[in-house]
Amino acid sequence: MAGMRLLAAVILVAPVAVMVARCFAADAQTHPSRALPALKDVYKDDFLVGVAIDVTVANGRDQATAALVAQQFNCVTAENGMKWDLLRRPDGGYDFTQADAIVAFAQRHGMTVIGHTLLWHQMTPQWVFQGDDGAPATRELLLSRLTEHIQTVVGRYRGKVRGWDVVNEAIANSGPDELRDSPWRRILGDDYVVEAFRLAAAADPSTELYYNDYNLEDPAKRDKTVRLIRRLQAAGIRVTAVGTQGHWKLQSPTLEEIEKTIQTFAALGVKVNITELDMSLFTKEQTDDRYKDAVPPEVLAKQAARYAAMFEIFRRHRDVIDRVTFWGATDRHSWLNHQPVKGRADHPLLFDRTGQPKPAFWAAIDPAGFLTDPAHQSLLTSPIGSEVRGD
Ligand code: GLA
Repeated sequence: MAGMRLLAAVILVAPVAVMVARCFAADAQTHPSRALPALKDVYKDDFLVGVAIDVTVANGRDQATAALVAQQFNCVTAENGMKWDLLRRPDGGYDFTQADAIVAFAQRHGMTVIGHTLLWHQMTPQWVFQGDDGAPATRELLLSRLTEHIQTVVGRYRGKVRGWDVVNEAIANSGPDELRDSPWRRILGDDYVVEAFRLAAAADPSTELYYNDYNLEDPAKRDKTVRLIRRLQAAGIRVTAVGTQGHWKLQSPTLEEIEKTIQTFAALGVKVNITELDMSLFTKEQTDDRYKDAVPPEVLAKQAARYAAMFEIFRRHRDVIDRVTFWGATDRHSWLNHQPVKGRADHPLLFDRTGQPKPAFWAAIDPAGFLTDPAHQSLLTSPIGSEVRGD
């Protein structure tokens, strides 16, 4: 019975929500002077609203996205441009072309820049972990490379970058170990996280220092991360914020776990940033390409409701949240079109593939208004989008 009522509510209300959103968008389109409201304005008293960009946005090759980014956001993260793979040449030298372009773009538009990332187990060239003879690098060699890298990169952007994801994704997803297995850990030992934070703090004493990871809404992984932050603090390390990446889905994690994660890290005396926000329409079990032509309105409405509820949570905790950053400007730019299923169309962001605002955008602009409608509320607990199709 409850299921029938829910279905009826969705059938009746979801299309209306989508229609209203489309009217707004069409209005803003046909009347360019009536620009879209901007996320950065709506949340200006709460937190920065950021976005990850690539070099095509920064160097003007993707002008439409650049305009959208400048209009909506006040903070940028280089999606890849500041990772070792992009910054370092095979001969050990540096190539700052992409990173410089992204910083210059941000400066032209008065945006804050976040550095991402100084140490990660992925997107780091193999040579970094090898000695001259191809054998694993010694601890001394790897530490000297890390030291030089952090001094050079943090030094170059001193005063231009607000803070750094010093270490990205060090915590093990499962099992008894706190830290994941990685060449960094194997060669440098368990103290490598502490070491990286010390080096970054020394390279720029005024920069903010972040620990960044995903799935922190999972209680076991969150507990391990709490232990790591406590260990850093006990070693006298200044941790400005924990970044919870926010690669979330239409069905998970629960809103309660999202809020609990913010509260748990805030209790350690650090800020909590949402650093790579997106919302895949797929569950882990779904491997088909069901949304390649279109996304049903009820799925878009459910995504909107969840974004609204999330922004309500963020706003409630604005005293500890400095920044909410989306991982990409539009659905066309999302990494989720390539992972975990290559070439599958996902739709995780607030703007569609053509840069038009989705229902989720309007929900993020006015979460309280969106959720006043009981039908929108009920979408939060509906199973829409969770059914697995047989291949
Ligand atoms: C992690 C990294 C990001 C990005 C995403 C998606 O979350 O922190 O830089 O690479 O994976 O690939």
